[in-house]
Amino acid sequence: MIKFNWEGKRKAIEFLNSLEHEKKYEFKVIESILAPKNENIERDSNLIYQNGKKELRNLKKEQSWENQLYWGDNYVVMKFLIQKFREKINLIYFDPPFATGGDFNYIIQIGESEASKSSSKWLRKTAYSDTWKEGFESYLNFMYERLLLMKELLSQEGSIYVHLDWHMGHYIKILMDEIFGVDNFGNEIIWAYPAASVQTRRFFIRSFDILLFYTKSNNYTFNDDPNIYMEYSDRVKKALKKDDKGTYYYRGGSHNGKKLSQKVYIKEKGIFPRDVWNDIPYVRANTIEYQGFSTQKPERLLKRIILASTNKNDLIADFFCGSGTTLTVAEKLDRRWIGCDIAKHAIHISKKRLLDIYNSNDMFNWKNIYGKDIGPFKILQINEPKKVQLIPTEFLAKGINHEIKLNTFEKPSFNVKIEKKDNKAFCELTDYSFPYENLISDNLKKNIKKWTDWIDYWAIDFDNKSDIFIVMWVSYRTRKNRGLKLISTPYNFSKKKSYKVLIKVIDIFGIETVQKYNIAL
Ligand SMILES: C[S@@+](CC[C@H](N)C(=O)[O-])C[C@H]1O[C@@H](n2cnc3c(N)ncnc32)[C@H](O)[C@@H]1O
Repeated sequence: MIKFNWEGKRKAIEFLNSLEHEKKYEFKVIESILAPKNENIERDSNLIYQNGKKELRNLKKEQSWENQLYWGDNYVVMKFLIQKFREKINLIYFDPPFATGGDFNYIIQIGESEASKSSSKWLRKTAYSDTWKEGFESYLNFMYERLLLMKELLSQEGSIYVHLDWHMGHYIKILMDEIFGVDNFGNEIIWAYPAASVQTRRFFIRSFDILLFYTKSNNYTFNDDPNIYMEYSDRVKKALKKDDKGTYYYRGGSHNGKKLSQKVYIKEKGIFPRDVWNDIPYVRANTIEYQGFSTQKPERLLKRIILASTNKNDLIADFFCGSGTTLTVAEKLDRRWIGCDIAKHAIHISKKRLLDIYNSNDMFNWKNIYGKDIGPFKILQINEPKKVQLIPTEFLAKGINHEIKLNTFEKPSFNVKIEKKDNKAFCELTDYSFPYENLISDNLKKNIKKWTDWIDYWAIDFDNKSDIFIVMWVSYRTRKNRGLKLISTPYNFSKKKSYKVLIKVIDIFGIETVQKYNIAL
């Protein structure tokens, strides 16, 4: 047997053996999205909101499951999940950093401006850094430990797809053979896409990613679902004819230069997928799907994987969720999901994408909008007392003066007017103050014309009772819809008494500020 070894591998193996004895991590829910009045969805039929929080509680009781989005290092998150989800996850898809040595960006838009490449009202920020300063060994250790954890979480009938490219694909395949077993190898899928704007003439243009598909055992879920089929090639499509019964066929059969005479009947939906997927385009910037996240993967790629390897209500996890592609597709295909990302802005982008799922593409009829609300989900983070108030990494982003060092982090603040009448109350956001204006580049400052330009998202919990912020009303900017409602819809309280109202504002850098107001009705 071939053994693949590198420095530090032994430590990774020992780690799994010690799993049971290690420190137990705890996570707490920081935000819960049950059924908010969502201002970005153009209709006002949200009865749950109108009837107040009592209904929300009932809803919570009825739902035994809420999808989960974790903000944190997936190593810690998976160790936490093992306590409850050992062998419970039906599908894991993940798209880790590829060890490219580069940084990946996402784009922040400012204020009401529509996204356009020429617009100066953009700020490009580093989404995550993919530089492995201690070399490939550190990358291999990183992946090895995480793959071991994923194996523990994967159910006996489950499948795992690892999305990679030429940088690390060959190494990780050997790791997968070792961890999941050569016998459980399914495919090395080539996802080929047109490589636009590559200028090299020093080697051939690299234009595909690979997906390593392994299963946990030989008894795994794999569906022959017509919705995963590939379209026929243009050559076949051109040659297609219909017979008297309306069934499609083409002429084929002979290769010896004679006329092709046999009728080859085909299924209308296309062909069962090969392992080369060249029918799924990269996400283009002018689409609804695009989230401004440079490594975002197409929803149609996840659709094929999810429909093939899971059934309705199965549990899907993506521990490197980025802009939330896997979670969005899982939701639209009626699967349960768990997502995780270490970057706070990835969590923010995923959250807004999920909240806005109503306006996204329908998975079976791409030209239509999905048209359904997001189901309940919660956002969790590690439950550790904050030692120091950290300066958000946002300040290291491009557009901010790097030289200035901050020792303390002063929080932004905002002003709100709360209007009450009978059993109802509504909130109006009237100002936002950002304490670091002097640290921001002139170029960015120029584009901030009014205080509302700082704001990306705000939400209200009208009846807060715990640490958990329940989003009961929300307004946020998306790439296409740049408007922000500054006055909330009135909320109907069930009784005349005192309430604690929590308001959360998230600015364009992802800095969250929560303020509390006590009101008496
Ligand atoms: C290639 S991107 C994923 C893109 C995603 N598939 C999408 O469609 O948007 C990789 C993601 O992994 C996250 N990441 C890197 N290291 C991580 C870690 N240790 N734990 C959790 N997330 C991590 C990065 O923040 C980044 O968002």
